[in-house]
This record gives sequence, C-alpha cells and structure tokens, in this order.
Amino acid sequence: MSLESWAELPLPGDDPAATGPAPGGPADAPALPAAVPASPAAGAPAPSPSAAGTAPSSSPAIHTVELAKRYRRTVALRGLSMTVRRGEVFGFLGPNGAGKTTTVKLLLGLARPTGGEALVLGAPAGDVETRRRIGYLPELFRYQHWLTAREVLTLHARLLQLPRRERFAEDALTTVGLATRADDKVASFSKGMQQRLGLAVALLGEPDLVVLDEPTSALDPVGRHEVRGIVRDLRQRGTTVFLNTHLLEEAEQVCDRVTVIDHGRAVATGTLEELLGARASVRLRVRGLPDGWWHAFASLGTWSAEGGWLRLVGAPPDAVPELVAAVVARGGRVEAVVPEHQTLEDRFLELLGAR
Ligand SMILES: Nc1ncnc2c1ncn2[C@@H]1O[C@H](COP(=O)(O)OP(=O)(O)OP(=O)(O)O)[C@@H](O)[C@H]1O
Ligand SMILES: [Mg+2]
Repeated sequence: MSLESWAELPLPGDDPAATGPAPGGPADAPALPAAVPASPAAGAPAPSPSAAGTAPSSSPAIHTVELAKRYRRTVALRGLSMTVRRGEVFGFLGPNGAGKTTTVKLLLGLARPTGGEALVLGAPAGDVETRRRIGYLPELFRYQHWLTAREVLTLHARLLQLPRRERFAEDALTTVGLATRADDKVASFSKGMQQRLGLAVALLGEPDLVVLDEPTSALDPVGRHEVRGIVRDLRQRGTTVFLNTHLLEEAEQVCDRVTVIDHGRAVATGTLEELLGARASVRLRVRGLPDGWWHAFASLGTWSAEGGWLRLVGAPPDAVPELVAAVVARGGRVEAVVPEHQTLEDRFLELLGAR
C-alpha cells in the first residue's frame, strides 16, 4: 500500500487522548506518516536511542551503495551510490522518469530495492523507528477530503505520538501559510493548498530529515518562493532536506549540493558551483599580436577562435587576470574580456546528453 492510498483510508477510531503506540501491524506499517516525535509522549514504548534523537549524528543522513530497482522489464534505478550529509539541502535533479521518486520510495522503505543498499539516518532504509524521524511530502499527495486541515495535522500528530498535538498542528499550519484556513475541509482546498498541507504534515514534529518529492509542483510563483524560504529555514535549524525536483531554479536557489540523475543513473554530483564552474569560459578580443599567439597559453584550457573572438574554456578564474597581463606585456591590446557562465540549464542538458 502506498502512502497515497493510505491517505484515503478511514480514520482509525482510537481515542485522541491516548498516548499508546501508533496503529501497528503489517497492514498499518507502510502507512506510518513520515514525521518525527522530537520527544515521545508519556506512556509511549521506550524509544530506541535513535528514536530519542540521541543517536550519533556522525553517520550521513543518507548513504546508498549501488542501490537498484527493477520493475519487471523497467529498470528504474541502476546502481545509485550517493551520500547526503547531515544538515545539507540536497537536490535530486533529473528529468521525468529519471528515477527520483523510485529512489525516495526505496529510502523510505515504501518499495524494496532489487539490488544494493541504503542507510537513512544511520539505519537500514525502511526502519520503522527511523521513519518517525523523517518527514515526507509524497509526489502524489492526497489527504482526507472530509477532514479539516487542522484535523489532518492532529491525526498525523496523534499517529506520531507527539505531545501537544494541537500546538504542533498550529505551528505547522502557520509555517505553510494555512493558519487562516485551518478549519476548512480539505475538499475545499485548491491543489496548491493541498500541497501546502502535505508540506505541513512533512514538517510535523521537527523531523531530522525532510524528504520532499517535487514540493512546489502545484504552487504559483509566490508559493514556490515561500516553500524555498521554508527549506532555507529548515537548513538554518540543522534539518537535512532531500529535495526531488526537475526545476533548475529551485535547485539553484536552495540546494547546497545536487546529484543529477538520468535513466536511473547519477551523472554528476557536487555543488552547483562545482558543476557549473568546471565549464566556465571566457571570450576575449585581442588585437596587436600575431595569429595563434594563444598557443603559448594552451595549458590554461581549451581555446577556439570564432570571428575575431577567442574562447577559452575551463581556465581557473584567477588565470584570467594573469592572461590579460601577459597579453599586454607582449604588446597586445585587450579590447574585451567577457566571462561566460554556463547556465544550469545548459549544463543540465549537457549532462543529459541533449546537446
Ligand atoms: N510501480 C511501478 N511499476 C513499473 N514501473 C515503474 C513504477 N514506478 C516507476 N516506474 C518506472 O520507473 C522509472 C522511474 O520512475 P520515477 O517515478 O522514479 O521517475 P521520476 O524521476 O520520479 O519522474 P517524474 O519527474 O516524472 O516524477 C520510469 O520509467 C517509470 O515508468
Ligand atoms: Mg517523480
């Protein structure tokens, strides 16, 4: 059962005041909402050290080794190895069908890998106690239409055995800008408002890791801007964020590092500066030197000539002033130096082999 289909199930009929364990058993297990009690309620089963938030945080937030998933004939993931550090906002960037959602499902234990392994917050992917410390906004979010936003959140807070549920629910609603609609039914919410509600569910209880699968897909530009602010706030608090997106500007604006994934394979990983900087180029217009003068500077990068302009690709940024000084020292006249930054989109398309 997926989380999405779980969201359609009737409410468990437990006593809201009860502080016992959340519904369990095989049928309920995949349904555990993905958030995290910062401190368990009185009367809850004794938590493991990791559930109590005292586990050593020296382990990476996420670590996968050759993680693979095949659905019958479709290979969705072909051996993904990556490490997400604690406290970073990590972008998982790729086109439709690249394997982003599949990866998230494997990390959360919602699907089983057909190869490799994954550790999340130091525990094997899918570990139930650890799941309590992970907030999750699914790609296809659907919440109970007959509940109000506040009721959805208090239900999740109850399942998480959070103390002060109403307070947590209120805080989450305020964070995502739904405080004034708290008592309206989900059925009356626009798609964007439902996505905000999903984000509130993912933030409940201050999880250590928040996994967001395309969190702004239904949002207008203002909503996107707000969600990016929320993600930055999470980083400020030391929360690790794993962000699936195909929106390049989203990755550019909030991610510390990204992995670009395509056809189930990681094609690049690094900071955006690393991904873009490696291909930085500069265009030069120089007069007064014999043709081919640049051969003396071949070691700086790759040179090409185009209609009176020269292009140097791959030179370190601090090499350019020295190059200009050397040209002048040789009697050349530097008419123009135009730095060219490859856009993320160009680089993305290049990595995907589209050009
Ligand atoms: N349950 C499934 N059964 C069969 N094939 C699946 C299943 N889930 C995903 N796939 C296939 O796995 C591949 C990766 O899908 P996935 O949903 O992970 O992509 P994605 O990167 O999240 O794409 P999008 O940006 O469109 O959300 C696709 O070829 C998809 O058809
Ligand atoms: Mg997806």
